[in-house]
Amino acid sequence: MSSKIFDVEKFAAVARRAVAEGIVLLKNDDGVLPLEAGSKIALFGRSQFNYYKSGTGSGGMVNAKYVIGVREALEADERFTLDEELKAIYDEWIKDNPFDAGIGWASEPWFQKEMPVTSELAKQAADSSDVAVVLIGRTAGEDQDNSNSQGSYLLTDDEHEMLKNVTAAFEKVVVLLNVGNIIDMKWVEKYNPSAVLYIWQGGQEGGLGAVDVLSGDVNPSGRLTDTVARDIEDYSSTANFGGNKYNIQQEDIYVGYRYFETFAKDKVLYPFGFGLSYTSFSIVPTAFYYGVEETEFEVQVTNTGSVKGQQVVQVYVSKPQGALGNPARELVGFAKTKELQPGEQETLSIVITNYQISSYDDSGVTGHKSAYVLLEGEYSFYIGENVREATLVASFEQEELEVVEQLSEAMAPVVEFERMKPIVNGAGEFEVSYEKAPVSTVDSNELRVEALKPEIKQTGDKGIKLADVDAGKASMDDFIAQLSDEDLCCIVRGEGMSSPKVTPGCGGAYGGVTDSLLEKGIPVSCCTDGPSGIRMDSGKRAFAMPNGTCLACAWNLDLTEELYNWEGLELRKNKVDVLLGPGMNIHRNPLNGRNFEYFSEDPLVTGKNAAAQLKGMHKYGVTGTIKHFALNTQETGRHTVEHVASERAIREIYLKGFEITVKEAGAHAVMTTYGSVNGYYTSSSYDLVTRILRNEWGFKGIVMTDWWAKGGRSYKGNNADMASIVRAQNDIYMVTSSAIDNTNKDNLEEELAAGTLSRAELQTCARNICQFIMGKPVFARLIEKGNELDLQLAEEADDDELEFDKIIDLRIDEDGVAEVDLAEIKTSRNSNNIISVSFKERGDYKLELTVRAGQNLSDLAQIPLSIFKDKDLLKMVTLTGEDKDWQTIEVPLIGCAMTFFLKLYFAQDGMEIKNIRISLTKSREEEFRMLFARMGEE
Ligand code: BGC
Repeated sequence: MSSKIFDVEKFAAVARRAVAEGIVLLKNDDGVLPLEAGSKIALFGRSQFNYYKSGTGSGGMVNAKYVIGVREALEADERFTLDEELKAIYDEWIKDNPFDAGIGWASEPWFQKEMPVTSELAKQAADSSDVAVVLIGRTAGEDQDNSNSQGSYLLTDDEHEMLKNVTAAFEKVVVLLNVGNIIDMKWVEKYNPSAVLYIWQGGQEGGLGAVDVLSGDVNPSGRLTDTVARDIEDYSSTANFGGNKYNIQQEDIYVGYRYFETFAKDKVLYPFGFGLSYTSFSIVPTAFYYGVEETEFEVQVTNTGSVKGQQVVQVYVSKPQGALGNPARELVGFAKTKELQPGEQETLSIVITNYQISSYDDSGVTGHKSAYVLLEGEYSFYIGENVREATLVASFEQEELEVVEQLSEAMAPVVEFERMKPIVNGAGEFEVSYEKAPVSTVDSNELRVEALKPEIKQTGDKGIKLADVDAGKASMDDFIAQLSDEDLCCIVRGEGMSSPKVTPGCGGAYGGVTDSLLEKGIPVSCCTDGPSGIRMDSGKRAFAMPNGTCLACAWNLDLTEELYNWEGLELRKNKVDVLLGPGMNIHRNPLNGRNFEYFSEDPLVTGKNAAAQLKGMHKYGVTGTIKHFALNTQETGRHTVEHVASERAIREIYLKGFEITVKEAGAHAVMTTYGSVNGYYTSSSYDLVTRILRNEWGFKGIVMTDWWAKGGRSYKGNNADMASIVRAQNDIYMVTSSAIDNTNKDNLEEELAAGTLSRAELQTCARNICQFIMGKPVFARLIEKGNELDLQLAEEADDDELEFDKIIDLRIDEDGVAEVDLAEIKTSRNSNNIISVSFKERGDYKLELTVRAGQNLSDLAQIPLSIFKDKDLLKMVTLTGEDKDWQTIEVPLIGCAMTFFLKLYFAQDGMEIKNIRISLTKSREEEFRMLFARMGEE
């Protein structure tokens, strides 16, 4: 057993458990699962060669040391054997059908070509095996929504054929869905396989977690965090999803099960919260306490079956319709049991506050505009194992309307639209009707000036260091007073990607990004993606986590917190203060490409999961950035589309998870979105970032933009408008290449001079940033206080060498110049090119690479290249999709006295190379000759 603090084996064990608990069993006819020991398995589906550990884009770029897929996990399990003949057929086929990664950013296909499975092949396999396991895989991600087409949301013809033939030939068929979020499920009725499981994208331990469930080592306790409806058109958001100009949330608060349970129960194939187990449970509410501000339930869960297992108890409320209208069900609480032995019981306690069951009045129809209210009428609570099976356990009568919290109008729409609202028809059922969504009556971005803090009088450098503020020797205001206008403009500019000032290959550097800021004792703090693990484009290894959907489906907040303790420790070890995750946008529609990074269609599940992750990371002083704040529910046109939603839907659905995370876990880093909402880019929405986040929720921390985001008003914004961003108190613009050179050519100096941006506004952001950094490990390391853990971790050796195909030989002859044969260089994702450089003349050399981004890439594509000399990282370059012209990167290779290895590591596809050459800049032959001679004499 290793005695390391960062014990990757323990990390892996928790991750494996989390995957297993997140897996959702939808069907298990005749108890086909768990598989009997000794079963001979016919494994179908090409995903046996390419288990998807995560989706694509920034949220999936973790260089895992290994990824164990389902096939490897089954092969390693001595209880099972694989049908060797079938395996050999697949092994042969895959040689001619290798994984297609697409070219460049956001172009990896959603699915990989499937091997045709004829009925003969299926029969042949059925003759020699006991059970068929069929794998179906899908990916999607940033900049690439899913689509309602074959190979994405729908199965391909080859997959249909495979299922048809395998289910016809085998009695027992288990289908495993290795997907980021839910897909079309109509095929289950058609082919009727014995068992179906969502195994999600489980990170590097994914296959092991899946086999734990197949074998019965772990009894499935995952429950859906999204509703599976019959057709994509059945989702209330589909009609407006994917718009290019507007993304109108016409369905209002009726997202996911809130819609289906109210209006369209018959459209549901698998309800929200659903999932099967190998055992059975009874759920008996035993007590109900109704207090002034909260309601508490005690629920006794008994394992009534014959094997151990865990159960999730869910509490839903049904509120009066009143003048506002409300969904038939809303999740207000949940809890998961420990592993219960047959016959064992556990009593769970679930507390629900009045605030949770209140509704927001954005029109004033209740007489209380901009308030959370408890409507007059009956509040009923339903408890059970999913939204459909929850039964009425208690209700209370609210005698008269009560204001729970009075707020003020914020973020109301500027575009008129109709929103969904229930009406009750003659049969007493709900029907969809529409009403005008109330539009904005006040532009508080314009009014923000009234709330401005007074400017702190600038004093120039008084020698106060940030450490003095930390030690209580000076106030933060005295410290901030020292910052010049240049300091103030620079501190709000984050640098990246892959800034040399922080851990190589990371997303961003912020804080002491200039000499002047550094001199004042502000260190440079590091952040990087998230959420699926630590992204380091240098090729450094990190642990690949199960995806957001998978973790949420486990409904086990303690387990998530424990998993994120490990993540926190790994961040700390890599000197990363902030993970750019969790992603916590609402699964408004199954077609959103980034759903894999997010948790659920429900805000409570979302908020609780994000909070658990943050609590986990906080144990080690690092944190996560909750993103994307807010309404990032589609990738199509993500930096141009305006999201139009009612204030009620914004508050009750899209912001609620963030609110929970801020209030319950003390979240203190937030990333705004690329998009705009109701008139403003979120980066520049004073309502969102200051009035709601900071003033209403009490957020103390930093807010950063998404990478190269725009600022300003919808449609008029651009990414140089940093003044608008700072005015909203979005503290840091991510990212520019050089803060001091203002490489982004932002308008800060200009607007400061014009008086349209006040110094006080910049000082407020600077204060937020400094306060934040003071609490981070980077600061502890600088002042050498509270950094014992870092010292211990630094002593733990790394084992993160990258593999490579071959060594490319480069000899530099007398003329001192040599070109690398480009045919030898691989630029595809995760390519590590090792070039052995030898030369006739010792001295200083220069490496030149002429590169550009692939011509078809989207502007926001990120294509990093890391250049190492032996083990030293010399330079990291990240081209974006905008870098479509050839540019030459120069890297000095100083003091080359003996052969060395040059390493070129490409973390993503899409970089084009015209030439790579090394040339002598200064001969130091004589100098080295004498030096070596002297060394020889000694
Ligand atoms: C994504 C963010 C990510 C950032 C840095 C953006 O393209 O939207 O989620 O954190 O890049 O990689």
